[in-house]
Amino acid sequence: MKIAILPGDGIGPEIVAEAVKVLKALALPLEMETAPVGGAAYEAAGHPLPEATLKLAQQADAVLFGAVGDWKYDTLPRPLRPEQAILGLRKALGLFANFRPAICYPQLTHASSLKPELVAGLDILIIRELTGDIYFGQPRGRRSAPDGPFAGAEEAFDTMRYSRPEIERIARVAFEAARQRRRKVTSVDKANVLETFQFWKDVVTEVHRDYPDVELEHMYVDNAAMQLVKAPKKFDVVVTGNMFGDILSDEAAMLTGSIGMLPSASLNERGQGLYEPSHGSAPDIAGKGVANPLATILSAAMMLRFSLRQPEAAARIEAAVQKVLADGLRTADIAGEGCTVVGTAAMGDAVVRALG
Ligand code: NAI
Ligand code: MG
Repeated sequence: MKIAILPGDGIGPEIVAEAVKVLKALALPLEMETAPVGGAAYEAAGHPLPEATLKLAQQADAVLFGAVGDWKYDTLPRPLRPEQAILGLRKALGLFANFRPAICYPQLTHASSLKPELVAGLDILIIRELTGDIYFGQPRGRRSAPDGPFAGAEEAFDTMRYSRPEIERIARVAFEAARQRRRKVTSVDKANVLETFQFWKDVVTEVHRDYPDVELEHMYVDNAAMQLVKAPKKFDVVVTGNMFGDILSDEAAMLTGSIGMLPSASLNERGQGLYEPSHGSAPDIAGKGVANPLATILSAAMMLRFSLRQPEAAARIEAAVQKVLADGLRTADIAGEGCTVVGTAAMGDAVVRALG
């Protein structure tokens, strides 16, 4: 099992080092190779996604990615900016399914935007389609309005579209993921208004015939936004399009309250994936040894589950993280009363010890 390790910029190298430490402690036959990405790669090789880095990622079963970006690159031309590395990797690897779990550990309910009783034990998974929808649909542009009450005025337009195979593959991913969880999928749409999402709903319903053991419910996006803050624990897997998923996944992230705890994964049709924390490179705390490595460590657990087919090793890491939190260890971003504040490396060491 080959893993491409791309630490990136800012706190990226610090947090990825801890995840690598945890992976090594599992004593699995993992082959890990590191390559520069983002600003670090621009400094080293003149490009945020050098050919050698891309090749390594393509040949690996999975990519463990830290974070990229720093204000100092803001003046570079767009194709050379660090963020282009993620877009380039998404495209080259054909990543179409973005997994964003929102888990609220019992010890961290104080960090949530919601009341503790609403989020204690929360464990939901938002799956966002990444390649289609109004973000990429053609045609788009600006023109003189051809009709309507403002005919002749300047207007802008985008095109919302989804094809059957695009919806089918993301629906299958959602049903498969639900089988490893509580066997419930909520498909979020706006079928009452949008033809694209009536089609989405129809296709998801058809695919569901292959998964009779999984419960399927349909929900309008406005209601889903409301239910996520009213009763988030009613969800298990939420699957939706690119734009609704963008918004709902950020909303769900806030239920847990701590950006330093949130992993993410992006998968392609071959099961290869890119795994990274949901946060950025945090230049404000880089190099200080205080960053929370748990989002990256939990991303490594997702990698074991979804790309490397090692669910037991994944569960071991997740249990170790829970144990460390239960023991009262915290990095500064999640500190609360009566707990012990530790740095990045000490947190990684504690997770390794808790693996048992
Ligand atoms: P950010 O997520 O890097 O930081 C936001 C705040 O959260 C900061 O106060 C930071 O110190 C804190 N924070 C983030 N991760 C943390 C951790 N693991 N432990 C403790 N505290 C943590 O977002 P920001 O500041 O908007 O962006 C900084 C840079 O990161 C920018 O260059 C941006 O483009 C880039 N970025 C990269 C992403 C990626 O690589 N996928 C995603 C988001 C932003
Ligand atoms: Mg977003």
